[in-house]
Amino acid sequence: MVEFTPPQNSKIKAGKHYPAPVDATRTKTLKIYRWSPDDAENPRVDSYTIDLDKCGPMMLDALIHIKNDIDSTLTFRRSCREGICGSCAMNIDGTNTLACLKPISEIKGDAKVYPLPHMDVVKDLVPDFTHAYAQYASIEPWLKSETPPPPDQERLQTPEERARLDGLYECILCFCCTTSCPSYWWNSDRYLGPAVLLQASRWLQDSRDEASGERLDNLEDPFRLYRCHTIMNCTNTCPKGLNPAKAIAETKQMMVKRQS
Ligand code: SF4
Ligand code: SF4
Ligand code: FES
Repeated sequence: MVEFTPPQNSKIKAGKHYPAPVDATRTKTLKIYRWSPDDAENPRVDSYTIDLDKCGPMMLDALIHIKNDIDSTLTFRRSCREGICGSCAMNIDGTNTLACLKPISEIKGDAKVYPLPHMDVVKDLVPDFTHAYAQYASIEPWLKSETPPPPDQERLQTPEERARLDGLYECILCFCCTTSCPSYWWNSDRYLGPAVLLQASRWLQDSRDEASGERLDNLEDPFRLYRCHTIMNCTNTCPKGLNPAKAIAETKQMMVKRQS
């Protein structure tokens, strides 16, 4: 797996250091990327040595402790705190993951915390997903059917048809996979990336959807789908244990089948 190495260029300087309380017995230092659009400063890395007895066990707990008790200017996204909303995706020790699912105890030495790589930054650990969300909208992620639903019940599936959505419907659109994909790093203007392609697969595999031909037409392009070179970073990094590379391969197979 290709790990993302946080930029080491000379513009990212060491910033402030916030020492641990003098009575702390168990400590951990977090080195956190900081950048604000509200001043003319270059990015910096602030370090916070925290008292582990003052916060919960996960990296998100540490960030919340810093924001609540040490430095309220630290900016990051989060909502559910249990791996469901996808908001707290960031790069921790070189790997894209969800801060709320990452135990502090798994990190040896200082914890390096950066925003998801190769995205514009809104502020600190908050990436700008405007383009990624537009790409998501472009696959029209909703059920399309000409056939009206039965008058007195919902559209039914067999257990086998429903099972085809396993491994797809669980995606929380955190974009850990997309931002770990080298093909996306270099071609994000035209390549959809693994998160959006997994979502495209989710609708292609849905027995109730009647727009497969139209959906495949929309992906038939040298870049939108075919920039995936099966490097597998996406699958290795997904914090929900999903396999976007397999979903992409299945979509390519559907493409081949309809041409033969
Ligand atoms: S496939 Fe996994 S890593 Fe990618 S967006 Fe979905 S949940 Fe996140
Ligand atoms: S398998 Fe495809 S989508 Fe996944 S990281 Fe590799 S190139 Fe990107
Ligand atoms: S806070 Fe919702 S996934 Fe981490």
